[in-house]
Amino acid sequence: MKLSDNTILITGGASGIGFALTERFLKAGNKVIICGRSEEKLQKAKEKYPELITRVCDVTRGSERIALFNWVTSEHPDINVLVNNAGIQQRYHVLKTNAKDDWNYYSQEIASNTEAPFHLCLLFAPFFANKDYAAILNFTSGLAYTPMAIAPIYSATKAAVHSFTMSLRHQLEDTAIEVIEIAPPAVNTDLGGVGLHTFGTPVDEFADAVFKNLDEGKHEFGYARAEKARRMSRDEIDESVKEMYSNMKDTIL
Ligand SMILES: NC(=O)c1ccc[n+]([C@@H]2O[C@H](COP(=O)([O-])OP(=O)(O)OC[C@H]3O[C@@H](n4cnc5c(N)ncnc54)[C@H](OP(=O)(O)O)[C@@H]3O)[C@@H](O)[C@H]2O)c1
Repeated sequence: MKLSDNTILITGGASGIGFALTERFLKAGNKVIICGRSEEKLQKAKEKYPELITRVCDVTRGSERIALFNWVTSEHPDINVLVNNAGIQQRYHVLKTNAKDDWNYYSQEIASNTEAPFHLCLLFAPFFANKDYAAILNFTSGLAYTPMAIAPIYSATKAAVHSFTMSLRHQLEDTAIEVIEIAPPAVNTDLGGVGLHTFGTPVDEFADAVFKNLDEGKHEFGYARAEKARRMSRDEIDESVKEMYSNMKDTIL
């Protein structure tokens, strides 16, 4: 991927992995636009980097996604990179759910992790198709390849984005749009709630690795355990899913 002179929209760019990428894209000489639900988080990011452009947007809402697209393409028509990074993770045992009353809660994960990136890709790809250079980066997870059974819908949303991204890459192969999938391992951020991700890769180490892979022109990559997961055989996947579940199931029981 071309790493400078782009105008980049990063969903969820005010914190976690998104913010670490925001910092690196700014330093590499790009214009960076970030969005998220929390105005406070966006403001904090802007205090650190006044050149950042921020926009409040809840990507789970279709009308807000369209408003984001309309705003960014009219105010910043030079936009040529979309990073679908925003996501949430929920952990639960299906026997402890009450889907009659709570489906709205569970469906948030589908809306933010799949519906939003799918919709944004469909909005931005035709706009990007006329550019000399563009890129779409979709965040999946090592769990797209080896589901973490304590987060069943989360893992399924990431598998769906992996599949979608492969199709998108084929459909756009005759355009100047690079389609890139990034599959993080466990990275120490607030994903799923503060304090749940403390055992993984430090966020700066992961973001540096992402930049290296992008610089090398890779179109699909993981890191650490997620890179291994991408290459596992079916037997290895079964073993890995079983081991993860047995190590973590007490946290949801
Ligand atoms: N950390 C990991 O271990 C890990 C592993 C594999 C994959 N990933 C993936 O990497 C991506 C980034 O995760 P992260 O670890 O950096 O998570 P994070 O620290 O929780 O950050 C998520 C970001 O997304 C934003 N966001 C969440 N829901 C949103 C919504 N509905 N609309 C707009 N923005 C929203 C949040 O901002 P607001 O709260 O202000 O909206 C926040 O800035 C996600 O797609 C995640 O699934 C992470």
